[in-house]
Amino acid sequence: MPIPPLSTETDVPPLLTMTEAVHGGIDSDFSSFPIYQGTNNSGAYSRDHNPTVAAAEVRLAALEGAEAAIAVASGMAAVSVALLTLLEAGMRLIYHQTAYDGTLGLAEDLCRFGIVPVARDLRDLDGLCRELADGRPTVIHFEPLANPFLDVVDTHAVVEAAHVAGARVVVDNTLLTPCLFRPLAVGADLVVHSATKYLMGHGNGLAGVVCGPASLIRRAAHTRKHYGPVLAPAHAALLLQGIKTLPLRVARHGENAQRVAEALRTVPGVARVYYPGLPDDPGHALAARRWAGFGGMVGFATRDPDVTQRVRLLKPWFSLGEPESLIAPYTRPLSGGLLYYRLSIGLEDPEDLIADLRHALA
Ligand SMILES: Cc1ncc(COP(=O)(O)O)c(C=O)c1O
Repeated sequence: MPIPPLSTETDVPPLLTMTEAVHGGIDSDFSSFPIYQGTNNSGAYSRDHNPTVAAAEVRLAALEGAEAAIAVASGMAAVSVALLTLLEAGMRLIYHQTAYDGTLGLAEDLCRFGIVPVARDLRDLDGLCRELADGRPTVIHFEPLANPFLDVVDTHAVVEAAHVAGARVVVDNTLLTPCLFRPLAVGADLVVHSATKYLMGHGNGLAGVVCGPASLIRRAAHTRKHYGPVLAPAHAALLLQGIKTLPLRVARHGENAQRVAEALRTVPGVARVYYPGLPDDPGHALAARRWAGFGGMVGFATRDPDVTQRVRLLKPWFSLGEPESLIAPYTRPLSGGLLYYRLSIGLEDPEDLIADLRHALA
């Protein structure tokens, strides 16, 4: 079944091209970039500078169309380095109420440092503007496509409201990737990724990245140096390798996700399917207008507590963006006693995934 066409009224900023993914920023004589694993390389201590990590950073900056980037040890390291770079005691951190679980935990933890965390539904722009009206120094953090419930947040509108109020915006672009959306192009101050996911792309290591203007990335590099979450050179090399095929993989993840989401709607016992590529999804119109695709994540609600035990092809693993399709139950029940399952749709043949889910939900 073909993917439905996007709205003709899109205002998607320029996206990562295949040429940028393969060549972006680095004119290298190596088909596979060397791994410099020494603690010292040409006089530099590896926590300050490592040639393999530096090469990955140049490619990562090109990926998001950023002036500069720093690579860090994990996605959570990227979120914390970005926030610790921008926040000071007394400031407010506004974040989307159903952000990735780790980010919710971090936001609460930042109270210890005198930061005021405020959870909001950032789809409610009037509510955000009311919150910002007091003029308190603020950083806003959100995912345009939020994990796990796949809420669609309007980056353009949030950035506009934030900048009118003098607030800074950190966007976690993990679920969309720069193949579908580039937040810096619409004015985000910093972009972070769990590069563990689609960017590395093969479930073979943890990594994170913070991208943005050179002035802010210099400050973020100090934060990384002082707190210490550097990326191992071997993982930087895996990241360089994975990025080369990113646009091909993201396209396939998205095609498969659309097929799976449409099929799940016809499965008895599935009360609701969450996927912004479905025309009746609450985020569809906005996503179709702002992004070049809807990504590879699908959610569904059912009363069945044992789906994870009955899948054969999908893996019951907690990650996303890997070649294998993954299924993860959400621990807290939804209203009405429904249970939420999050799918990271992989690169397999979609009919095999659909057959596996039909069997597991039968
Ligand atoms: C949106 C998002 N941000 C950050 C993270 C954290 O990434 P990591 O597990 O690489 O620390 C995750 C992990 O799932 C995520 O989904």
